[in-house]
Amino acid sequence: MDTIISDFPIFYKYPDLIYLDNAATTQKPKQVIEALEEFYYNYNSNIHRGVYRLSEIATEVYEKARERVAQYIHADPDQIVFVKNATEALNIAIYNLRDRFIHTSYYEHHSMLLPIYRYAKGYKLCENIEDIKADTIAITHASNVTGKIYDVKLVRENNIKATIIVDGAQYVPHYKPDMKKMDVDMYAFSSHKMLGPTGLGVLYIKDPYRYEPLLLGGGIVSNVTDSMYRLLDNIERYEAGTPPIAEAYAFTVALSYLESKLDVLHRLDQEIIRKSTSLFEEYDIRPINTDQDIPIFSFYFKNIHAHDVAEMLDNYNICVRSGYHCAQPLHEYLNIGPTVRASFYIYNNIYQLEKLVKTLKQIVKIFK
Ligand SMILES: Cc1ncc(COP(=O)(O)O)c(C=O)c1O
Repeated sequence: MDTIISDFPIFYKYPDLIYLDNAATTQKPKQVIEALEEFYYNYNSNIHRGVYRLSEIATEVYEKARERVAQYIHADPDQIVFVKNATEALNIAIYNLRDRFIHTSYYEHHSMLLPIYRYAKGYKLCENIEDIKADTIAITHASNVTGKIYDVKLVRENNIKATIIVDGAQYVPHYKPDMKKMDVDMYAFSSHKMLGPTGLGVLYIKDPYRYEPLLLGGGIVSNVTDSMYRLLDNIERYEAGTPPIAEAYAFTVALSYLESKLDVLHRLDQEIIRKSTSLFEEYDIRPINTDQDIPIFSFYFKNIHAHDVAEMLDNYNICVRSGYHCAQPLHEYLNIGPTVRASFYIYNNIYQLEKLVKTLKQIVKIFK
């Protein structure tokens, strides 16, 4: 068994599984699964509140996780907020821009667009992310439908004074973002799309004290009277209630695992993208996107519903996503219906890409 695949227990249980739904969530290496267990066996207690030793240990584990995430994205620990997922992170970000007119794009996930629809004073969906010139900008770093990466640094250079919010949910699983270089105001991503556990997301905030939390509750205040509250002066003001402590610990293990495999991942990404071009040509199976930077391929079949294709692929043990992928405005903008999306990650290989293309060809023939 390939050394990377052998780190993922799910492939022991399902040896024939061709898992190509990585843009939705990735599988977990045993190191991450064991880290969750390790936390509950050794450190479990609530954090920040207890003065007993076990609670202090758990608090230290959690705060170390914050430091590790900060290091990974080249930020400071007091700029890192742990939340439930990228969706929650983006909700906090957009809520804080509720009095603004926001320039966003057709390439956004619903978790960016819906909060904008709800909170923004006004908004505009732009066609070209890198051409946006505006005061308040909310954009994706990489599209979950087309796999294209956008040059966020360029957007900052074109908009020196703008407030810029970035959805990094699809970028961070493949590349390390650099907060200092990109100089954005807020940046969101999810642990579960990059080998880590579900239930944990990250919101980087360049200037945390300029903004306020969306959720209120325990652990975020310095003082509460019968009529008012004062928020803490630190990043904990965004983390009301008990946070995902075990998940934060396991995420540090996921980051170390991913970091040690980044070169392999980049080579694989490029190989898959390169090989896909000739395979699509050979089998006359065309995705809607041809300029992807990360290996995400979305297919639109005019006469076959995407869900039917996905169900048939499942008969061949191929897991893909079908539908709008929480990006319905993009599908409408591209004038297409629901698509079938195959997204590759570190444990996939060229053979699986070939199998996908050949199987798609067979399915198309059946429906002809
Ligand atoms: C580009 C993008 N943004 C945001 C999200 C939301 O992530 P989560 O479901 O982890 O909140 C996704 C998930 O698919 C995504 O692809």
